[in-house]
Amino acid sequence: MSEAAAAKKPDEPIDLKPVYEILDRLAGQKGMLIPILQQVQDAYGYVPEEAANAVADGTGSYRSQVYGVLTFYTQFHLSPRGRHIIRACAGTACHVKGGAQVIHRMENELGVKHGGTTADLIFSFEEVACIGACGLAPVIMIDHDAFGNLDPNTAETVLKKFRKKALAEIEAEGSEGEKNDGGEDASGE
Ligand code: FES
Repeated sequence: MSEAAAAKKPDEPIDLKPVYEILDRLAGQKGMLIPILQQVQDAYGYVPEEAANAVADGTGSYRSQVYGVLTFYTQFHLSPRGRHIIRACAGTACHVKGGAQVIHRMENELGVKHGGTTADLIFSFEEVACIGACGLAPVIMIDHDAFGNLDPNTAETVLKKFRKKALAEIEAEGSEGEKNDGGEDASGE
């Protein structure tokens, strides 16, 4: 997800420039609807409605066709996702080692259940089937990192660390943005 998209507030209009750039590169080629939508999702972290409509217009597709693709493939998301994706394993090995309690604690801490995104857009939470790390059961993944041998307390600690790190990143991006805005103002151009 681009930083600009990550920093967007819910009531701000969508900046469609990334969509038009993607369309300029790919729209003339056959069979590119899915790759275009994938790139749009990479740019925003999800596929906003305005972007989906712009893709339909730019590719000469019916909107129903674009939404058909977006709702058929689970890789696409139509609402904002958290900057970190948590995948908690609900597979058998994790379950017998206390995975359900880990998941329960995480849901309580996050205030969302499977498929949900926290209000601060820091985390999206998903329960998934075995992620192939049964030796570490119970295990969760946050983005590409695996955390294993968890219990509810250690899972909560991992979450708190990630949230702290994410808040520090958001603050740093905010001051970087302010610096850049200040720089443009100072130039007087
Ligand atoms: S069952 Fe959880 S990693 Fe395999």
